[in-house]
Amino acid sequence: MKKGEKMINKKMETALNEQINKEIYSAYLYMSMSAHTTHIGLTGFANWFMVQYQEEMEHAMKIYKYLQDQGSKVHLKEIEAPPSSFKDLMDMFQQTLKHEQFITKSIHDLVNLAMKENDYATQIFLQWFVTEQIEEEANDNEIIGKLKLVGDKGNGIFMIDRQLGERTFHSN
Ligand SMILES: [Fe+2]
Ligand SMILES: [Fe+2]
Repeated sequence: MKKGEKMINKKMETALNEQINKEIYSAYLYMSMSAHTTHIGLTGFANWFMVQYQEEMEHAMKIYKYLQDQGSKVHLKEIEAPPSSFKDLMDMFQQTLKHEQFITKSIHDLVNLAMKENDYATQIFLQWFVTEQIEEEANDNEIIGKLKLVGDKGNGIFMIDRQLGERTFHSN
């Protein structure tokens, strides 16, 4: 590729840079939730959110690398501060689900743009994210379902905490 020659257009480049920011914000949000659950003594929940943090940073890095592979410039922008106090566990997972639904919409908007711009490479690149979002929302819904079953306190929470403590990060 000649120097300065871009394989993806400016619109797509800007939108992908914005997505890097959203993924790092996601990581920051889950890091904050991990800090909060550590603070209230739920180390399993804290572990789950920290794995989530690692996944989100990996999502950001995938886009970072993709832009560079395409000869585009990475522009890092300011990351908004996440909330640092939460009502209860249900509130945290409902916020998590709501945030993931927002990210899913954002990924779908990127796919639409890539289609509009006839950017086949970016369409294929984004397929992984489309599939990943299905799993993200399913995971959140599963935990919300469990929290509904046990209520927000008591022994059930400790059982869920132990289970979430077993989650480990796997690079994708
Ligand atoms: Fe993500
Ligand atoms: Fe996510």
